[in-house]
Amino acid sequence: MAAAHPRAMPSGTKRGTNPNLGLSTMDILETLEKRREAARVGGGEKRIEAQHKRGKLTARERIGLLLDKGSFEEFDMFVEHRATEFGMEKNKIPGDGVVTGWGTVNGRTVFVFAKDFTVFGGSLSEAHAQKITKIQDMAMKARAPIVGLFDAGGARIQEGVAALGGYGDVFKRNVVASGVIPQISVIMGPCAGGDVYSPAMTDFIFMVRDTSYMFVTGPDVVKTVTNEVVTSEELGGASVHTTKSAVADGAFDNDVACLLQMRRLIDFLPANNRDGVPEWPSFDDIEREEPSLDTLIPDNPNKPYDIKELILKTVDEGDFFEIADAFAKNIVTGFGRIAGRTVGFVANQPMVLAGVLDADASRKAARFVRFCDAFEIPIVTFVDVPGFLPGTSQEYGGLIKHGAKLLFAYSQASVPLVTIITRKAFGGAYDVMASKHIGGDINYAWPTAQIAVMGAKGAVEIIFRQDAGDKDKIAARTKEYEDRFLSPFVAAERGYIDEVIKPHSTRRRIARALAMLRGKSVEMPARKHDNLPL
Ligand code: HXC
Repeated sequence: MAAAHPRAMPSGTKRGTNPNLGLSTMDILETLEKRREAARVGGGEKRIEAQHKRGKLTARERIGLLLDKGSFEEFDMFVEHRATEFGMEKNKIPGDGVVTGWGTVNGRTVFVFAKDFTVFGGSLSEAHAQKITKIQDMAMKARAPIVGLFDAGGARIQEGVAALGGYGDVFKRNVVASGVIPQISVIMGPCAGGDVYSPAMTDFIFMVRDTSYMFVTGPDVVKTVTNEVVTSEELGGASVHTTKSAVADGAFDNDVACLLQMRRLIDFLPANNRDGVPEWPSFDDIEREEPSLDTLIPDNPNKPYDIKELILKTVDEGDFFEIADAFAKNIVTGFGRIAGRTVGFVANQPMVLAGVLDADASRKAARFVRFCDAFEIPIVTFVDVPGFLPGTSQEYGGLIKHGAKLLFAYSQASVPLVTIITRKAFGGAYDVMASKHIGGDINYAWPTAQIAVMGAKGAVEIIFRQDAGDKDKIAARTKEYEDRFLSPFVAAERGYIDEVIKPHSTRRRIARALAMLRGKSVEMPARKHDNLPL
């Protein structure tokens, strides 16, 4: 339990009396400063020291790093809880475990709340919840992003249902704000209960390696209920949530690196769903050609290459912020800029599982596409996909539903969609990856593209089964199939591909397409909402 805290009120001041009575203006100012100082030490020097020893910064230090220097305006630093159970009335700390306010990131308004682990483990009381909901409401009024820095043990146990109610109020606002303002959660310590459920309803979750954990219930409860013995790291560390559960979208080595990366991410994001993408000065010529891309595709169609090379050579100044880089690496998602304006990139990655679409890759990309669409961020899709991954593990894992998520997300997107097929676009995956048929606005292919129902080997085995024993015949049939179908031209002849472009001109072609599509407007029929295959 938190030890008695240095009182915020100057000694000798009784509650209910006017503390300014008989004081000079200088004294009054000094009183204010004393109260502020008391609030700034949170749970006290000892706990701050313990926080630092664990390699973590304090809530205020974190805010200082996230926001532009000197831009933070704090609210409610004198708020205290109103609990009276378990002796809590004698144990109050100004601020009550969360620092809230607003400031700027590279000049753009951002609202922030940071849990203070030194105060009751950052746990949420009724008053603490009201501080957060105030900031959520203000962010919505101002239509500006909100960032939550989490380092907290969930509902304040001593407050019972008042704390649960407080979480409910926060959750509801998370949902109302979804798709209106970007919401980012940064997990920077052990987080449980409501302090993982609220992040789960926001757009992005990032973690700090080795010092942050996310679980609904901690290892002790797990042991009691299931007899399982696990460490915090095994149960909910950054490696679990960035590679296995996909709860988190990325992890960084320490608080400083993480917060600096959050500033970078915010620079890519629109302030809200109406403002459109931010535009930053760019010194990268949109006419820039990349001759090396002409030889990116290996001669052997089964040899991998790194699709990130194409992304990095396409975006302004090679600046790409990857989302969920450690999960479902067979698809790459993230933000870059073209002509200074944010673009979402989705790209099959031939380096991993040949870029196949499986359940994990589908849901990762689907979520990303929906974020981009909600916030009017145009999407560029690079396609090199041999199809959906066959097998029982995929089918039992719901590949049909997960694949449908991506198909649904693209089909529903009304933002500009520019698609470039670099090599394979086989089977249903061709349709899914922002094809013309489901809403692609500009669909280009490199001359190396192969757009077909499947690769030559599989196709010949099925349609020329009668020739199976005859090697020469099979070779001839395979060649015939490759010549006719494994090219971009069958699709181009039908207008499914707008043009076959030279790889070195990819950046220029995309830039021109996006410029042309800036005014894109499509109407969907009126409805309450769609029924995305969740
Ligand atoms: C009140 C809490 C608290 C809580 C921690 N503290 N969690 N106080 N309510 N929920 C206090 C501790 O008493 C301690 O106070 C200080 O915070 C630091 O906690 P430690 O346990 O010493 O730290 P650590 O060993 O790092 O462990 C952190 C922890 C653990 C993993 C978060 O404290 C923990 O498991 N807490 C309980 C988590 C939980 O079950 N919460 C309720 C979830 S239900 P002193 O005075 O010693 O510094 C929930 C409902 C929401 O949130 C609805 C969801 C849908």
